Amino acid sequence: MRMWTLLIVVGLACGAPNVGNPNNAVNHFSFGLLHNTYQFQESFGTKNVAVAPLSVWSLFSLLTEGSSGQTFSELLNVLGLPNDLRATQNLHLSVKDILKHNSRDVTLIGQSAMFSDCSLEIHPEFCRSANLCSTDVYSVDPSNTTKLAGDINYYICTATEGKIINAVKPQNLDNLRMVLVDALYFKANWTHPFDPTHTKQADFQNSQGRTIGRVNMMYHKAPHRHADVEEIGAQVLEMTYGSDARYSMLLLLPYEGMPIKQLLENLASKPTERKPHWLTTFLSEEEHNVDTYVPRFFMSAQSDLIRPMQYTGIVSIFDPQRAELPGVSTSPLFVSSTVQNVELEVTEEGTVAAAATIAGLEDRILGPRFEANREFVFLILERSAGIVLFAGVYSEPSVV
Ligand SMILES: *[C@@H]1O[C@H](CO)[C@@H](O)[C@H](O)[C@H]1NC(C)=O
Ligand SMILES: *[C@@H]1O[C@H](CO)[C@@H](O)[C@H](O)[C@H]1NC(C)=O
Repeated sequence: MRMWTLLIVVGLACGAPNVGNPNNAVNHFSFGLLHNTYQFQESFGTKNVAVAPLSVWSLFSLLTEGSSGQTFSELLNVLGLPNDLRATQNLHLSVKDILKHNSRDVTLIGQSAMFSDCSLEIHPEFCRSANLCSTDVYSVDPSNTTKLAGDINYYICTATEGKIINAVKPQNLDNLRMVLVDALYFKANWTHPFDPTHTKQADFQNSQGRTIGRVNMMYHKAPHRHADVEEIGAQVLEMTYGSDARYSMLLLLPYEGMPIKQLLENLASKPTERKPHWLTTFLSEEEHNVDTYVPRFFMSAQSDLIRPMQYTGIVSIFDPQRAELPGVSTSPLFVSSTVQNVELEVTEEGTVAAAATIAGLEDRILGPRFEANREFVFLILERSAGIVLFAGVYSEPSVV
């Protein structure tokens, strides 16, 4: 059996209103974020990765409206926003619209909130932008981190129907002046559910073809879009949700022997103008009856997104020296944390997925700063002769 590595495009390939015409700019950001998050987490030995890129996109699109200079141009470029406030707001609004769907067999709810220091002068235009994209604004005292964590966790728990319960701890909120939250909840039945009596245990392999474990493999023969997409080097299968098939999950199985990293890199590469995007082509394929084997699975992931975001090219907003967010507040701020929790369960009947993205904003430190909070080398000098007397490396911290 060929290797199975799961790649889940959480955020729903077919969510756009005009199915078959994916929003390439937003998707380009999503694939870049997935690629970078995987690379970053793999370096810590974490292999199962799940992100909700649209939630991150939405949160940083709002911040774009309060940014300027280098910070603005990085966000504009990486998020694929039009260089025009009105057009940006319209794009943001259309994305927010996608995140509202409630039919008999599909529920999708996107909610966002801003928790802010009452003493912080927030610009009225920024509040208007927040309101425009239906972000709830709460005035809070962030110095009481116990209460703030409680408020944020309650908001997220409610917005995700209880799927994400303890997204933040009080100690994660030290020094924050503003916290932006974006929550996403998705619950849907497959258009063609699996019969649980056909689910059987099966081996699961890595890209070298070595068995690395067992899974509960679901099976059915049902009409699905299915194609070899050479451009990215994968077999792609689409399983739709609900009777109207407006949402779907795509499973991308890399060609035998091809590492998942290569597939992620292919997905993230810049689409060319001339050729239609592989997703556009794929979504217009006919459905065929396919013998489909997909494992039942559950994933719970927490990702620190600052590094992955930096790799995509959004850098200065995270830099206490260089962040330019004058349109957010009169106090200079920077984004000091961005964390996302994702819970996802795929079963015979469908999928339940929830995500919460949290971005914390702190006061910027103006002027040079030196913080020896990682491994460092030290030297002791005799200054007149410029001679080193002692030299060392401090790399094993202890509280002395
Ligand atoms: C979803 O599937 C489950 C299990 O088959 C079923 O009990 C439930 O009624 C379905 N929901 C809808 C809205 O069709
Ligand atoms: C923080 O808020 C909680 C709940 O409102 C309250 O009980 C507690 O006394 C507050 N702590 C401080 C230090 O103000």
